[in-house]
Amino acid sequence: MTNSPILISNARIVNDGQVSEGDVRVRDGRIDKIAGSITAAEGETVIDAAGAWLLPGMIDDQVHFREPGLTAKGDMATESAAAVAGGITSFMEMPNVKPPTTTIEALEDKYGRAAGRASANYAFYLGATNDNIDEIRRVAPGQACGIKVFMGASTGSMLVDDPAMLEQIFTHSPLLIATHCEDTPMITANEERARERYGEDVPMSEHPRIRSEETCYKSSSLAVELAQRSGARLHVLHLTTARELELFSPGPAADKQITLEVCVHHLFFDESDYERLGAQIKCNPAIKTRDDREALIDAVANDLIDVIATDHAPHTAEEKTASYFQAPAGLPLVQHALLMTLEHVHAGRFSIETAVRKTSHSVADIFGVRDRGYIREGWHADLVLVDPDKPSRVTKEDTLYKCGWSPLEGFEFRSSVRATLVNGRLAWLDGQLTGAIEGQRLEFG
Ligand code: DOR
Repeated sequence: MTNSPILISNARIVNDGQVSEGDVRVRDGRIDKIAGSITAAEGETVIDAAGAWLLPGMIDDQVHFREPGLTAKGDMATESAAAVAGGITSFMEMPNVKPPTTTIEALEDKYGRAAGRASANYAFYLGATNDNIDEIRRVAPGQACGIKVFMGASTGSMLVDDPAMLEQIFTHSPLLIATHCEDTPMITANEERARERYGEDVPMSEHPRIRSEETCYKSSSLAVELAQRSGARLHVLHLTTARELELFSPGPAADKQITLEVCVHHLFFDESDYERLGAQIKCNPAIKTRDDREALIDAVANDLIDVIATDHAPHTAEEKTASYFQAPAGLPLVQHALLMTLEHVHAGRFSIETAVRKTSHSVADIFGVRDRGYIREGWHADLVLVDPDKPSRVTKEDTLYKCGWSPLEGFEFRSSVRATLVNGRLAWLDGQLTGAIEGQRLEFG
């Protein structure tokens, strides 16, 4: 592995709403020079990128890497390696681990675990509970990327359902509030109805009726109302329904008080896929109808949705063989998220510039990630080289997740990720991890 300068030549550089042909030199971890043509220095590593897209690395603002406490499913090293294989160069990780990340001490423990083991850059959310408002008020920018509020129960037991506590969080949080929006009492009632009808043998295809549109709408409208009343900076995670879109406004992410994220699987699958994939695509909030999926794709194109992320949530293959109520929710996605997004570019649903805005620029803008998320001289060299017309097929053998499976096995993408650079070093090249572990703690502001 070389640490010397790297020259990427003849690339189609996708940045800041434009595609331009040119060369990029990286040196000492940063983007040293961008120009129409750069002459290679002697001994310099040159990557001929003719025909390839050079993108700023994807910044995934929602992943579950399961450390500490749940490392049979995944850990910082395995899941971040899968992430760089897929063109993700930074991740923001969720607090529903064991013990949950609900104190500043637990946050610092996580940063310690990522240092020297994460292949991509990292930051962590502080989790809200019904009784940690003092900790939330104490957290400083830089200690966490945001406050995660499970306004609906999901994996783990981090539900915040005390209305007084929600008011306090929205009034006093010093950081962006990221919400999981589903109404738990409504879900519980729907589960009871399903039990009456099917016993324990509920078909997986009932999931979008149990975790229904109404359960999402009720919770996301409450989150929006709380933000409007308090002036808090709200980021609504993994939107899944067309109806909820009416709660949000289009426009540049940097100008919004309330921003919106969608996840790759909700843009990719719909309820017709439960029959084939069953519990593999059981996740919260649920994958819903084809019309919902279509509306979400359109909302990416028209800037109602600001961010595309993964909610990467690995569970073991064995756990996923269980019945409806027992099978855990969530699917592993980081290795294929960028390629899943680019399928919509190939299908003409939105442009490559839009894809880059949603996977990188806007995430950096929303969280205030310092010197990342754009291809700019002097900024960190987090870059992805994509061969747009070189197909790649997902196989179990090539899946790098600790859980060893993907809901996409057998699918052929129209593109492939040729190379990923993290802080100026190649972490992934031509189908192989290079072994470089270059992830750094994200800085904000
Ligand atoms: O499907 C999901 N899985 N949704 C979540 O909110 C949590 C996640 C997990 O941690 O497994």
